[in-house]
Amino acid sequence: MTIRLVLLGRQGSGKGTQGARLATLYAIAHISTGEMLRNAIKHATPVGKAVKEIIDSGGLVNDELMASLVQGRLGESDARTHGYLLDGFPRTLPQALSLDDIARARPINIVVDLEVPRELVIERLSARRAAEHRADDSPEAVERRLALYDEQTAPLIAHYRKKGVLAVVDGVGTPDEVFARLTSAIVTATGITAPGGDGRTTR
Ligand code: AP5
Ligand code: MG
Repeated sequence: MTIRLVLLGRQGSGKGTQGARLATLYAIAHISTGEMLRNAIKHATPVGKAVKEIIDSGGLVNDELMASLVQGRLGESDARTHGYLLDGFPRTLPQALSLDDIARARPINIVVDLEVPRELVIERLSARRAAEHRADDSPEAVERRLALYDEQTAPLIAHYRKKGVLAVVDGVGTPDEVFARLTSAIVTATGITAPGGDGRTTR
């Protein structure tokens, strides 16, 4: 069975960092909607032009546009054949319902909530701001992003718990420690091991 995983978690919780490592380990597509949008901005595509201001100010792009971007990406052959890791989608209840529809034929195996306290993600994002100059890492944009997380994204935890696919993983620690917790939570919840993993049954 291929793995189809959603990473939930506050901004700065490590979705991008851990998502890249997990996608390499399981040989699946790492689909970061934030990266897709930042690429669109970089290449000044019509989508990029439409979303730049929203992203820079820490707002959320509208649900319809996000659902259609993700639907297109999940329809590509790598995602269909090998599975995928979604990082940054869904982040509203309407997006979660769209994903339920999009993935109806091949449902999500596991949703991981990467838990990191607010104070710590603020520290991580301000360190990244100094290093990378992401416009939405300004204190005002971070404040807005975190408020939107509490308001719009946190309710998805209950949505996925009800569906029986939620795993909660502590995201505090070194990247290696968090990665080890993630791989262990994934095998426990799904029975799916990485190619060349620990020899437990892959289904
Ligand atoms: P997106 O790119 O998804 O940003 P985000 O959710 O704000 O999350 P981040 O990328 O900031 O954090 P992360 O959890 O990936 O952590 P990371 O690994 O980078 O979205 C950007 C914007 O696009 C949104 O605000 C919105 O406008 C729009 N958008 C995207 N998807 C959308 C959607 N579905 N609907 C509507 N709008 C959407 O780590 C953060 C930092 O911490 C890094 O510097 C990293 O090196 C460091 N770090 C990571 N792990 C550790 C660790 N264990 N210890 C110490 N430091 C660590
Ligand atoms: Mg990210």
